[in-house]
Amino acid sequence: MSGPKCDIGVIGLGNMGRNLALNLADKGFKVAVYNRSPDKTEQFMSREAGERDISPARGPEELAELLARPRAALLMVSAGKAVDAVIEDLAPLLDQDDLIIDGGNSHFSDTERRAGELEKLGLNFLGMGISGGEEGARLGPSLMPGGQRAAYERVAPLLAKAAAQVDGEPCVAYLGRGSAGHYVKMVHNGIEYAFMQLIAESYDLLHRGLGLEPPELNALYHEWNQGELGGYLMEITAEIFKVKDPDTGAYLVDMIRDRAKQKGTGKWTTDDALELQSPTPAIDSAVMMRNLSTQGGLRSGLHQALGSATALDLAPAVFAPLLKDALYAGLILAFSQGLSLLARASEHYGYGLDLEQVCRIWRGGCIIRARLLERLRRAYGDRPGLESLLLDPELGPEVMARAQGLRAVVAAAAAAGLPAPGLMASLGYLDAMRSGRLPFNLVQAQRDFFGGHTFERVDRDGVFHHLWQE
Ligand code: 6PG
Repeated sequence: MSGPKCDIGVIGLGNMGRNLALNLADKGFKVAVYNRSPDKTEQFMSREAGERDISPARGPEELAELLARPRAALLMVSAGKAVDAVIEDLAPLLDQDDLIIDGGNSHFSDTERRAGELEKLGLNFLGMGISGGEEGARLGPSLMPGGQRAAYERVAPLLAKAAAQVDGEPCVAYLGRGSAGHYVKMVHNGIEYAFMQLIAESYDLLHRGLGLEPPELNALYHEWNQGELGGYLMEITAEIFKVKDPDTGAYLVDMIRDRAKQKGTGKWTTDDALELQSPTPAIDSAVMMRNLSTQGGLRSGLHQALGSATALDLAPAVFAPLLKDALYAGLILAFSQGLSLLARASEHYGYGLDLEQVCRIWRGGCIIRARLLERLRRAYGDRPGLESLLLDPELGPEVMARAQGLRAVVAAAAAAGLPAPGLMASLGYLDAMRSGRLPFNLVQAQRDFFGGHTFERVDRDGVFHHLWQE
């Protein structure tokens, strides 16, 4: 190749890789692209790349040759074995201080391992969560990088230009050592699952419980999206209720099977939250409900055998404001659970996370971007060590003011037999976390009774055992 070398190489031309390459080129960077199967590269170059400053590479050697030194290569391949395979091909072709960035949804433990392996080879490595789907990648995603700080600083100007911008600030920040970036992205997805579940439950209550149809649902979610509930997931929910199926003319949402797939990041969040003993019941119930949704045959059988829900015994005009409050309380509680997990993980894995920065970079580009995040950012900005968002002098009372709505919605759902495990888990979390005393004195007594596991006393220090029966 003649002329100056490329600023960055994008490896993997799937939807995310292609759009990021275009985004980077549009921001004025010279981009090299490489895909394992050359057809994709050729197609990309002839169709989408256009006149942009993008250079195709036919193999990893050619890619290494195209990159300015120290090199920076951004991997946009599926999480798992493909990442290891690309690193295996690429690492021998790189020099000391070159940088590999993994922009996929890798499990944080894989990122931790890869960071160690590459460090031994003298190479830099960043694990970077990228959120925003194809549109985010193309126009500006939220970027969550972690790894060596010096390596981040080197690509920071490039990442800042590629990222979404909110109030003149790019939605990217150095998050911490090792796997910090992928950990934050994992929890982002956990919160994404939780809020999607809460919205899905609200839809079920309105549609199955009250008989609202897509046009009315579109109007309601659209209205909610204008206020404190505003955010990307509310916005697309409103949009979905407008779309008709080109084949049948029915509303498309009504033509979609009620079984949700998942790539695993929600479950990973739940797994690690359990490991670190940081409660995330709204996220856990979202993962559980996606699993339950796949048991369609059994659900139909049980519906035939046992019957299911009745209609809600409330007028839409009475129920809708309660549901709005329930969703808002649920949104704060979902963020509260996710951010508390991040605080715990930061301590456990030594990430040194700054939760104000995390909330700041989630304000734009990503799937969970929401109006609320500006306030969450301020909450952590004002009190950096905040143990729970519910201790914030504004947010805690706000949740309590909305809790009446949440309670009423949960009660109505339970009375009608409409499943609302996400809303119920959110309320249970709020009530349990506010309980100065929970019944675990009894659990300790039982453990000591059957297993001699000992207990602590309220009136003196130490560990005690009682002979409960003669
Ligand atoms: C994002 C998303 C994205 C994720 C999809 C699908 O932030 O852009 O989180 O990374 O892959 O939302 O996730 P599931 O298949 O697990 O639902």
